[in-house]
Amino acid sequence: MKFEILNNPVQKPKVLTKNSNGKKVYIETYGCQMNLSDSEIIISVLGESGYEETEQISDSDLILLNTCSVRDNAEQRIFNRLEHLKNIKKRNPDTVVGILGCMAERLRNKLIDEYKFVDLIVGPDEYRKLPDLIDNIIETGEKGIAVKLSKVETYDDLIPSRKDGITAWISVMRGCDKFCTFCVVPFTRGRERSRELTSIVREAEELSKKGIKEITLLGQNVNSYIDIEKNDFSDLLKAVAKAVPEIRIRYSTSHPYDLSLKLIETMSEYDNICKYIHLPVQSGSDRILKLMNRLYTVEKYLGIIEKAKEMIPGVGLSTDIIAGFPSENEDDQKKTLDVIEKVEYDGAYMFAYSPRENTKAYKMADDVPGKVKQRRLSEIIELQRKISIKQNKKLIGFTKEILLESVSKKSEDFLMGRTDCNKSVIIPKSGFNIGDKVLTKIERVNSATLFGTII
Ligand code: SAH
Ligand code: SF4
Ligand code: F3S
Repeated sequence: MKFEILNNPVQKPKVLTKNSNGKKVYIETYGCQMNLSDSEIIISVLGESGYEETEQISDSDLILLNTCSVRDNAEQRIFNRLEHLKNIKKRNPDTVVGILGCMAERLRNKLIDEYKFVDLIVGPDEYRKLPDLIDNIIETGEKGIAVKLSKVETYDDLIPSRKDGITAWISVMRGCDKFCTFCVVPFTRGRERSRELTSIVREAEELSKKGIKEITLLGQNVNSYIDIEKNDFSDLLKAVAKAVPEIRIRYSTSHPYDLSLKLIETMSEYDNICKYIHLPVQSGSDRILKLMNRLYTVEKYLGIIEKAKEMIPGVGLSTDIIAGFPSENEDDQKKTLDVIEKVEYDGAYMFAYSPRENTKAYKMADDVPGKVKQRRLSEIIELQRKISIKQNKKLIGFTKEILLESVSKKSEDFLMGRTDCNKSVIIPKSGFNIGDKVLTKIERVNSATLFGTII
């Protein structure tokens, strides 16, 4: 799953609704795409109660941080941000400050004890309670705390308040039951539960009517999707692809244990399903994979990759890798580098192992010294960079169809689009608009981006 700090998603301030309560909410989102999708649900819940979203923190009555716990540095970032919010709260004591998401779930006690100015602490399954909790804070000054995890909540009936644009996410399931030994997600997000296929298809159709051009189906582990009618993820992907044939469909994230041949077949059968798989390997050593409880061997993993390459020619592949898991030695590291070399990923998200309290791995000694972890991580990053360039260079001279998504970050005169294999391509604006599909000839590349001309 794509990871980065996602600054306040650019959203046009909404028009005041009839039942506006005159209050403004500002939200910052950290962590994964699920969190971004959740922020759209949060804004929708608050919108129903009359809150209007603002992009100006200084303009807001309610400041929310939707947080991530996956690694220590993700949490440290929020703690730093909280120091800033403390000052805002000092200047404007009436501003309501809330911590939502995975850190609210995991660190509620610390937040209650050490961050007294935080008014609101709400976990991922309790967002429906936000309006009542906020009203109560305003009336009584009592803190609002709601951190129960649910076995059934999917926010199925809520229409997320989506930013303007041509791409959209649909959360198809919540939670994770995999319990990889390093990971906090099963603790912060609770048990797996899936939305019904019919409701997801309906949502995709609605998005199509609104002019959306690309949909990403989201879950921590979409391959364990199963609805009450026993539809699995391939069934879902097929149903969505058929219902909105003009829309590109992506999904994230797959766990190799559950990735079926049926899914690869489905991907190969429908033109509008993007030919791209993010398949986290985590380590190239069977010994470490076992300690991580990943439930597959390197051989099995490479088997899936081989099938995908064979059945979906030109498929885009990416992965997640952790360097320095407990007891990892130089031989394990070499095996990880070998897998990277064998698969030839187009891209990778690479992390140094970060011990998380309450996980099984936390009880194992964090015995790889920080310097060694960083050196191994650098080796992995460097190798992957070389491979990314090599993979991208193969495309020079070829013509690719891209869907234009946004203005280039570096210059207003250029637009960014992506190929269905998920490569970013920069082209001159030359009269095109966001949402257009254009054919482009790839002229030059670096490890992250392709540069094209119009043909
Ligand atoms: N459900 C997704 C991943 C969610 S976490 C999946 O299984 O692919 C995203 C990535 O963060 C993981 O794939 C892993 O590479 C990394 N990660 C998770 N916990 C970590 C930890 N404790 N230390 C370092 N990296 C971690
Ligand atoms: Fe975490 Fe593993 Fe679940 Fe992914 S599959 S969210 S890494 S426990
Ligand atoms: Fe996502 Fe971070 Fe939570 S990765 S699920 S926001 S711990």
